[in-house]
Amino acid sequence: MKLKARAKINLALNVASRRSDGYHELEMIMLPLDFYDDIDIVFSDEDLVELVEGVIPQENTMTKAIALMKETYHLEQCFKVVATKSIPMEAGLAGGSADAAAVMHGINRLCNLKISDEELAALSVKIGADVPFCVIGKPAVVSGIGEQIEPIDCICDFELLLVKPKQGVSTPQAFKTLDIDACDHPDISLIKEALVSNDYSTIINASKNSLEESALRLVPTIATIKEELLAFGFDFALMSGSGSCVFALTKDKDLIQNAMNAFDYDFMYHTTVAKEAL
Ligand code: C5P
Repeated sequence: MKLKARAKINLALNVASRRSDGYHELEMIMLPLDFYDDIDIVFSDEDLVELVEGVIPQENTMTKAIALMKETYHLEQCFKVVATKSIPMEAGLAGGSADAAAVMHGINRLCNLKISDEELAALSVKIGADVPFCVIGKPAVVSGIGEQIEPIDCICDFELLLVKPKQGVSTPQAFKTLDIDACDHPDISLIKEALVSNDYSTIINASKNSLEESALRLVPTIATIKEELLAFGFDFALMSGSGSCVFALTKDKDLIQNAMNAFDYDFMYHTTVAKEAL
């Protein structure tokens, strides 16, 4: 069975507070992209996760997803997953989380378990805070540590250019160096309303990321990329998640093509918001 493990962006990310367990209360607008890893999952004699190209640590989000599904639903079967990775690591695009979500959906379907997306999402937070959103796979306001998902009905008729510098950002590191009192705090309700009413100018004026400043200190190239993309003519540029990928917005497809030709960044990809889940 073949599935798409879709990347996401955080159109906006507000860190509300630091919790006593070290995690942070967040409010985010998350959008699934038409950019994905390909996940192929079949029954097998033993549990196995392989990449078509490259190597993956012995324990990874996909092995965790298999173990969690087997343990929770008392499954006797084993599964082989072959993943074709396109989403870069340490980018803030939820590549690992998307892979885990796809494996959970794959096992649900292969074994005909008929578990609802909501139940799978609630379970999936055990793998990581971004996995519940990836399980639901729709534009959403996401809160808590990432487990509360409120889907939004929106058009999102803009084009995105993803640009990632060579250096990634470690998520724990970005959270650790964050100054909650000094960082940006986007108004998530305002941006949600702007998405619903397709008010592009409010979207680009109000969207911010609380983690951007701390990530910029770790990887200063993020700031250079943003400046260059804005100077090139994009309407908006912001880091996604804890970085280091930047997304730039425009409604002009030619501008994206020109930017792809003009710049020589480590990773560039033209995409749109996904119109269907998996
Ligand atoms: O849950 P996940 O493993 O994806 O989170 C990676 C790290 O990001 C955590 O160890 C934590 O440092 C940080 N994090 C956080 N608050 C969140 C989500 C992640 O502090 N809501």
